[in-house]
Amino acid sequence: MSSFETKIQEALANPKNQGEIEDADAMGTVGSPECGDMLRMWLKFTEKDGKRVIDRASFQAFGCQTAIAVASMATELLRGKTAEEAKHLTVQELTGELGPLPPMKIHCGQLVEGALRNALDNDAPAGPAPGNMAPTLAASLHRPAAGKLRIVPIE
Ligand code: FES
Repeated sequence: MSSFETKIQEALANPKNQGEIEDADAMGTVGSPECGDMLRMWLKFTEKDGKRVIDRASFQAFGCQTAIAVASMATELLRGKTAEEAKHLTVQELTGELGPLPPMKIHCGQLVEGALRNALDNDAPAGPAPGNMAPTLAASLHRPAAGKLRIVPIE
């Protein structure tokens, strides 16, 4: 097994932050047209030193092992980040200790990145507003595609 696969297996043996955050401030869901997998992410914010930072992040994946491992890693390293910082994290940064994803697995990381971006887009700084959790399909479709692959937010 390559060291990448070993790290994936280690992350899967004890995945972190799986499941819904009941009182989440934001939620994002995306599906990958490449493989049909889906990932949903929840974010809960808190106030720290006058800044609004991510207190907890969680996920649920209907996807491959790499997506689950990356989501587990990403939800750990999102803690303490501001929304602005989180928005600028690249796929390769979200993988944390897993290291760079092999080319075949990049889209698995993009699924995690897409769910995070979708959640951040849905976040209302003044608190959750009804109707703010789910973007309209039309708004989702107008989002610029990241790279060649289009990750589609799902209602
Ligand atoms: Fe679909 Fe990994 S194979 S997310």
